[in-house]
Amino acid sequence: MEKVEWEDVQRLVLSGYPKLPFSAYLFWHFEPDKVDAAKRWLGSLAKRLTCAVARGDRQAINLALSAPGLKHINVSDNMLNSFSPEFLEGMAPKPTATGPSRRSNILGDLGDSSPEFWEWGGWNGSRDIDGMLLLYASDRSSLMALIDTEIKAMAGAAEPALRQNGERIVLEGRIYEDHKEHFGFKDGISQPMIEGSPRASKKRKKSSGDPDENKELTADEKRIHLVKPGEFILGYRNERRIRISSISGTKDSKGAEARDIRRNGTYLVFRQLEQDVRAFNDFVANTAGRVYGRTDEPAREEIAARLVGRTREGHPLVPVDRGPDASPRNDFLYHFEDRFGTACPIGAHIRRANPRDTIGPDADTALRLSKMHRIIRRGRPYGERLDSGMGNSASRKASRGISFIALNADIAGQFEMIQHSWLNNTHFGGLHAGTDPFGHFSCTGDVVTIQDRPINHYIDRPRPFVRVRGGAYFFLPGIEAVRALARPELV
Ligand code: HEM
Repeated sequence: MEKVEWEDVQRLVLSGYPKLPFSAYLFWHFEPDKVDAAKRWLGSLAKRLTCAVARGDRQAINLALSAPGLKHINVSDNMLNSFSPEFLEGMAPKPTATGPSRRSNILGDLGDSSPEFWEWGGWNGSRDIDGMLLLYASDRSSLMALIDTEIKAMAGAAEPALRQNGERIVLEGRIYEDHKEHFGFKDGISQPMIEGSPRASKKRKKSSGDPDENKELTADEKRIHLVKPGEFILGYRNERRIRISSISGTKDSKGAEARDIRRNGTYLVFRQLEQDVRAFNDFVANTAGRVYGRTDEPAREEIAARLVGRTREGHPLVPVDRGPDASPRNDFLYHFEDRFGTACPIGAHIRRANPRDTIGPDADTALRLSKMHRIIRRGRPYGERLDSGMGNSASRKASRGISFIALNADIAGQFEMIQHSWLNNTHFGGLHAGTDPFGHFSCTGDVVTIQDRPINHYIDRPRPFVRVRGGAYFFLPGIEAVRALARPELV
């Protein structure tokens, strides 16, 4: 088993910071023509970054850089070109003469979700994002203080990139006490585990209800979720036994072999996904009426669960024994347990997002293949809840959604593949129409299929409940790489 240099990896790879429920995503751009100041700032920031072996109990700081950000600090062309094409191209290239860019088509960022309308990262407004600070704190006032300190520290080198009517805005994220996102479901339950990580080698403790808790994995969880480090951290072997390799032949100014700045880093996908909770609730109630002839709570809950593949409390619909501690289980498969989707519909969100043992010539191969397309999710809800007591009309108008974050070593083969070939695929798993219930992409005649006996239910979905409002591809470097980038000489 390859040993990962955890002390050099940023902690976000291992933890979603469940004990630091308040977070901010501070997008910034470098000040023009101040490369020396930028490098000095990065040098001091490197000392404050929270690494994977740190505890980060009171606050945490992580750093991500975009391709324009790396260019700004004079990373050599040789090194820059070793990054993946999708990272270098960015999430929202401008349209071509013949229509939306290839990338927008892959992601389904069309119509309402087109980068034309994004609040940031799209074709208009706040496009020049060189990087992002991910700030985490235990309460809101500590978070505000942390934002303030970090903005002061970057002065003269970089400045916050997002503004609305001249005012600085910072996108926030929040873990609510019940760990539920805005549609009302527990989130962050199913995550891949990196082979050799502290969690993967932990002894079982009693469940604390935290998604990132320290309990030991069961044998089935290991079989399903244990993934090679190279799927998430550059410089190590992945599930194909390939190492996204180090650059050789590059020398630094003293003639020494240059260190690959990708080592111990990973790509970070950020998407601001706005959720229309009222439209979702209406759809659930209408569908309950169509399927069960009633719209009472149990009927609505049944439909809501079928859209996700888990109940609101996170219990999977695939038949599994709930176990003694009643925490949601994640050691289930579909091929033998629920092949035809009569328990967990084939098009349900979790079955599309991770089909486990269902897409391949046989169940074992399918499970092996699925490990090449996993992502670590570190997103959090933003905005007040619909039922937050803001008053009806204010609450209705307020924007809410998920600051979606995915970590992966290969954006094209992991995040984009899931988004394009599974969530947006109208024929996923043999379905004849319809896209992911939580997806932002919609096709003509979009339907949700709920498998049942003797006949399936096909429910028209008039429009998606999610809309993309901004996004960008970043690189979450290893800490030594941040130090290397801070040195005056070319990397
Ligand atoms: C507003 C949009 C979204 C919402 C509200 C949402 C919500 C959820 C919920 C409630 C779960 C079940 C809890 C769990 O298994 O951890 C889940 C699982 C998951 N979601 Fe999403 N999600 C959204 C968008 C996305 C997108 C865009 C992707 C990927 C491109 C994605 C990938 C996943 C994956 C990989 C899982 C775990 C599936 C498994 O391993 O069984 N989600 N999501």
